[in-house]
Amino acid sequence: MLDTPKHAIRPTAAAALPAPIRTMRAQGPEVAVELADGRSGKLSTRWLRLACECEICGDTASGKRWLTPADVGKAIHAESFDVSVPGEVTVIWQDGHVSRYDAADLAARIDSPHATRFQPKLWGSDLSERLGRFAFDAVVTDDAALFSSLRALRDHGIAMLTGVPAETEATARIAGRYGPIRETSYGKVFDLISRPDARVAGETARAQIPHTDEPFRYAPPGFIFFHAIRTGAGSGGTSLMVDGFHVAEMMRAQTPDLFELLTRYGVTFHREHQGEVFFSAEAHVISLDAAGAVTGIRYNDRCLAPQWAPLDQVDGLIEALAELTRLICDPQNQFQHQLQPGEALVFDNQRVLHGRTAFDPTLAVRHLRSCNIDRDGVHSAFRSLARRFAPEEAEAVLYQGAIF
Ligand SMILES: [Fe+2]
Repeated sequence: MLDTPKHAIRPTAAAALPAPIRTMRAQGPEVAVELADGRSGKLSTRWLRLACECEICGDTASGKRWLTPADVGKAIHAESFDVSVPGEVTVIWQDGHVSRYDAADLAARIDSPHATRFQPKLWGSDLSERLGRFAFDAVVTDDAALFSSLRALRDHGIAMLTGVPAETEATARIAGRYGPIRETSYGKVFDLISRPDARVAGETARAQIPHTDEPFRYAPPGFIFFHAIRTGAGSGGTSLMVDGFHVAEMMRAQTPDLFELLTRYGVTFHREHQGEVFFSAEAHVISLDAAGAVTGIRYNDRCLAPQWAPLDQVDGLIEALAELTRLICDPQNQFQHQLQPGEALVFDNQRVLHGRTAFDPTLAVRHLRSCNIDRDGVHSAFRSLARRFAPEEAEAVLYQGAIF
């Protein structure tokens, strides 16, 4: 069994231009590094050996990698370091293998061996001033405009598109710019029209508490598009959007015990249409990443199954869900907006909860067109375009969603 490397082997975004390296020398299991600007730090020798990207060791970016952690034993050590070529470091290992590294990349890692974690920008009812709005024509034709909207989605988990034509083809055309459309049991692009024989709550005229969609799936939908075709202006149906990360942080600050329950114990969500489907998932309502940061939310009061939590936990869990429900129903935490025809809201279904006020279906028909986009696809589109438009943002670790 190998030891865990001291530093995560993960590309780091070099925030500022790092100084060139003045010296490197072996120091026990580590390599001491001195930079030209006087700063100094260390790298793990095993990490350094494993990071070699020569033809023999392989290429991390494309995944054609041949050197494995098992090849990088504790006894490994470097015979010599050459830092005399500007921008380059050459290391000769004890077995004669030669590795070459980018000096700036190594210099960036001595102080910050872990990748930068992206800090989401939290919002409440104040979102209206900050919400990113992007024109359909620009987003479908211009990668820079698409990138700006992807950045807004990364920051706030939500963006608005304007001037979206009412055709089905337009919904798929713009949604496809963000990543692969995920086909669900309702199809690829589906229509939400208020109707008397409603199968899902979205087709009724009733009010809906803000929720995430389909928390009963192991992997809930990633990003959701709501494209307004017809809206019942004056008849209700105002969209209520809530930043799940914001309310989670409020819980962490105000009721830490309840916050902890939602991050530690599973809650079961389910959905059954008899004889057709029976989805069920037990998962954390609030997902945390390895550093304890909120990384995803799943919550829909209408999909809660009778819980199987042990007797000594069940009341606490219900109180935690009640507190969460109070917070997401508080107008101070809601961005409220009456969608207009031609507008589309795009939002991260594993961060942003969506709901709406009731409306009167006898006054107006409400018709939204919706589709789901894979979450990985959206973040992949962001990173790929960041390589072109904002290279320093491409490698930050983004919040990774409702990951149990
Ligand atoms: Fe929904």
